[in-house]
Amino acid sequence: MSATSDNSSKETLTITDNRTGKQYEVPIKDGTIRAMDLRQIKTDDAEDFGLMTYDPAFMNTASCKSTITYIDGDRGVLEYRGYPIEQLAEQSSYLEVAYLLLHGELPTAEQMKQWTWDITHHTFINENIRKVLDGFHYNAHPMGMFEAMVAALSTFYPESKNIRDEACRRKQIHRLIAKVPTIAAFAYRHRVGLPISYPDNDLSYEGNFLNMMFKTTELKYQPNPVLEKALSVLFILHADHEQNCSTNTMRSIGSAETDPYSALAGAAAALYGPLHGGANEAVLRMLNEIGSIDHVPEYVKRVKAGEFRLMGFGHRVYKNYDPRARIIKQIAYEVFEVTGRDPLLDLALELERIALEDEYFVKRRLYPNVDFYSGIIYRAMRFPVDMFPVLFAIPRTSGWLAQWVELLNDPEQKIARPRQIYLGQRTRDYVSMSQRGDGAAAGQAAGGA
Ligand code: CMC
Repeated sequence: MSATSDNSSKETLTITDNRTGKQYEVPIKDGTIRAMDLRQIKTDDAEDFGLMTYDPAFMNTASCKSTITYIDGDRGVLEYRGYPIEQLAEQSSYLEVAYLLLHGELPTAEQMKQWTWDITHHTFINENIRKVLDGFHYNAHPMGMFEAMVAALSTFYPESKNIRDEACRRKQIHRLIAKVPTIAAFAYRHRVGLPISYPDNDLSYEGNFLNMMFKTTELKYQPNPVLEKALSVLFILHADHEQNCSTNTMRSIGSAETDPYSALAGAAAALYGPLHGGANEAVLRMLNEIGSIDHVPEYVKRVKAGEFRLMGFGHRVYKNYDPRARIIKQIAYEVFEVTGRDPLLDLALELERIALEDEYFVKRRLYPNVDFYSGIIYRAMRFPVDMFPVLFAIPRTSGWLAQWVELLNDPEQKIARPRQIYLGQRTRDYVSMSQRGDGAAAGQAAGGA
């Protein structure tokens, strides 16, 4: 593709179809052309469907308009509703940020009081949902249990299908934000064989979560304020990240007007993948595998040889230091004041140092992302490695819900349904089995499915 310029300035794009010599002028709005404006571009063939765009993995396609989260990946900027992530991490709390994401503005004192009450008074789950856990093997991955229990909630709240009823929707939002820490902690207790620790509504959102995770014989669990604050910051940093894989899943399922519990279970499943929210778990496993600082250069060499990826590095949008990783790196030191320093931090720092100096990473603009340091803090706080993706899902719940509400209120949105370029066989006659010969070669050619 080439570009020439003249002096005319107009918010349109002129396209010449060299197949026909015809010209088309399509509007440009917000730096974007509408893919549907290309459909008019056709050859003289009456069968021609019209021009489409091909964009596997949505590399250059906006699927929605949004006012929730702004990212400038080149500059390493992240804002929720216009507020820089650094200011929110320093001055806000997770529940306040959840309110901001969902309502568009920071709450007044009165609104915050009501919001906290609404969330706090939905933290319990029906005992029958708890019993769902009994069906899981003792070593079931907590993220699998989390997804299943969130999906199960839809059967307890059938009214949640009324997705166009605002008051009903609000109720499900309260329930989901309130219950995800309970579900997560119950899954953990099942995993380690400890009795359930029920919610304590006197505590903060984060403090109560720590209570449900770690309370043993004490009559009243007192969370360590440094760890409570660190968890709040981590939750703030993970609350939303515009149209990432799991949010796109939430919107895609939501576009079919599915209830929010089922949609959120699907979003959590997307988050579970090691290229997405499962990366924090993968980072810890990687650091343990590397084992010591002397092994770092050899490991980086193998990454460069394409044997595997450096987990916690690289991002589709950030081509600069992920601002969340910078904040997490800072709070790691505060957490270690309480828990003692984790030697894996030194390993991670060395890995980062070597990678950031290496041409392979520099050329591809690969920097540490949010998952690189979060696992080290979670580990220091005594969270087991397989809980890490669940710790991502708890705060991302507010982001998923904010995006879901935005989708439902957007008159331009319809059921999500991408197009495809069909390159397979066309209409042919069925061949009976006796006449098919040895099908092995044909099966392999088709991908062996
Ligand atoms: N280690 C080594 N090489 C990498 C890495 C990595 N972590 N990430 C990208 N590359 C290389 C990749 O091989 C490719 O090289 P080449 O041009 O020679 O083929 C180039 O960089 C571009 O990579 P890509 O796969 O086209 O980039 P993408 O935007 O499709 O992938 C990513 C983004 C996050 C999936 C990827 O960087 C990755 O797999 N990172 C490791 C997993 C990870 O940390 N994920 C967490 C992301 S942040 C939190 C979240 O979203 O949940």
